[in-house]
Amino acid sequence: MPVNLRGRSFLKLLDYTPQEIRYLLDLSKEFKRMKLAGEPHRWLTGKNIVLLFEKTSTRTRCSFEVAGRDLGCGVTYLDPGSSQMGKKESIADTARVLGRMYDGIEYRGFAQQTVQALADYSGVPVWNGLTDQFHPTQMLADLLTIEEKLGRLKGVNFTYMGDARNNMGNSLMIACAKMGLHFTACAPEALFPAKELVEQAEQIAAQTGGSVRLTSDVNEGTRDADVIYTDIWVSMGEPDSVWAERIRLLQPYQVNEKVMANASPTAIFMHCLPSFHDTKTTIGAEIAEKFGITQMEVTDQVFESKQSVVFDEAENRMHTIKAVIYATLC
Ligand code: CP
Ligand code: NVA
Repeated sequence: MPVNLRGRSFLKLLDYTPQEIRYLLDLSKEFKRMKLAGEPHRWLTGKNIVLLFEKTSTRTRCSFEVAGRDLGCGVTYLDPGSSQMGKKESIADTARVLGRMYDGIEYRGFAQQTVQALADYSGVPVWNGLTDQFHPTQMLADLLTIEEKLGRLKGVNFTYMGDARNNMGNSLMIACAKMGLHFTACAPEALFPAKELVEQAEQIAAQTGGSVRLTSDVNEGTRDADVIYTDIWVSMGEPDSVWAERIRLLQPYQVNEKVMANASPTAIFMHCLPSFHDTKTTIGAEIAEKFGITQMEVTDQVFESKQSVVFDEAENRMHTIKAVIYATLC
């Protein structure tokens, strides 16, 4: 069956079939080829999109802005303090206003229900640029990067280390299940993903030839992995008071040389970024002073190693987001 995503929102990968994800990845490759060849592709000239950010961003915001402009769209950015949304106007009212003016809406914020409400009320495609629960546009970039680097998705041994019940842990588990990868969450039990989501992922994996495993054993969880992935230990929106406990829980799950040596010799290291791999950030320096650790979820050595593909991954955010905008608005 041909894939047609026109008019669809992109809120979480659970809403998309493996065929639809495949279509978006192939479209991303074509947009990447055109961008690198310098071929213009202003195929959405005359359309307008709005980007609503209730949390900060570098990659997601810039990807939507550049992708939108490359496609010929007008792009409006609204930062956390500069709209009425939530404070003086409900999500439903905001959605109905923006839907009259824009052809598509990107939202980054807190609750998944908010991005769902925007989609329910606006009448135009809504794209989830990260909520507390899911980060679906990041998934397309990650899948594209794995395919580019390893030449395949199906059968890849993928290990995620860290907070496995945050937006990245949840999303990667579903993304891997959808595309037939073998997903391992290597994390302390207290940070395992929710049981219901694990069950959903297992059911999906049973159809695609993938698998889902949760383990707290670093040696077992990282052995022969083709991809080692991690994320920051404390996510946006969490209070500073969780740092001490999170460091205690996650220090054993730091991606370091020992972890990479236990993985496949051809393993790649991935991270959605931003990353605390040194003390060259305000938070990195504060944590170093307070807790005496100078690198957190990944060592600087692994981050800067040849196995690290994090900047190719970051670039792919733009190509894949362009595919999502185009496919849903064309
Ligand atoms: N990976 C990611 O979403 O980065 P930003 O927070 O910079 O958008
Ligand atoms: N888990 C991180 C992902 C950042 C892209 C956060 O939500 O802050």
